[in-house]
Amino acid sequence: IKKVTTETLRKMKFDKEKITMLTAYDYTTAKMVDAGGVDAILIGDSAANVMAGHETTLPITLDQMIYHAQCVVRGVDRALVVADLPFGTYQSDPQKALESGVRMMKESGAHAVKIEGGEEIADSVSRLINAGIPVMGHLGLTPQSIYQFGTYKVRAKEDAEAEKLIKDAKILEELGCFALVLEKIPADLAKKVSESISIPTIGIGAGPDCDGQVLVYHDMVGMNKGFSPKFLRRYLDLYTEITGAVSQYVKDVKDVSFPNKNESY
Ligand code: KIV
Ligand code: NA
Repeated sequence: IKKVTTETLRKMKFDKEKITMLTAYDYTTAKMVDAGGVDAILIGDSAANVMAGHETTLPITLDQMIYHAQCVVRGVDRALVVADLPFGTYQSDPQKALESGVRMMKESGAHAVKIEGGEEIADSVSRLINAGIPVMGHLGLTPQSIYQFGTYKVRAKEDAEAEKLIKDAKILEELGCFALVLEKIPADLAKKVSESISIPTIGIGAGPDCDGQVLVYHDMVGMNKGFSPKFLRRYLDLYTEITGAVSQYVKDVKDVSFPNKNESY
């Protein structure tokens, strides 16, 4: 198996081949997502939401993210494995960012880290990259800043925020990020950004002209009943499938049709 590297993704942009990414947080899911053929797997801090049931991504800790990343790494043969650094572990101080990044890389075996923000975190991005840690950027609706935004609505609809985003993308490219997530911004802006930088953009709610796409695994397989943003395409209805299977199991045990003779010793 030929492993995907940051260089592979760069070449895919050059060759105009779309990049595919999904999240995973555990070994068994990572195995299936890798077998399905995605190019990159993200241990998103969306684990705070879909694994732990928090309202926002803020509460998850570096130790918890490292644990999820360790589990995922064990399940992956081919995909590039990228792990989010959580809120509070890289923003304040480049030295702290480096320590967080080093811990993630050493303890989990992930291949790269992702951090949210542009110019404000430039020093942290540089420190990580100078230490040999590949960094994926993340602009637009950056959920670690939700209390500043106050809403999960589309970002950068106004000129000032769009201009800043274009500038931030350029800065992240120049600092040496290998790719950039664009979350929930107008498709036209994502197209413009994708055409203006040489590193691949990976969109979520950012239209078809990004160099790749990412979705949260639990959302795309339909495990989340309550979360239905317009950008989300559900490929399965696992919520219905799984609750159906569970209720069938409950019925079978109650009426003693499970286990049957063949299922007994
Ligand atoms: O945490 C996450 O799942 C993410 C993706 C949505 C890009 O950051
Ligand atoms: Na994230």
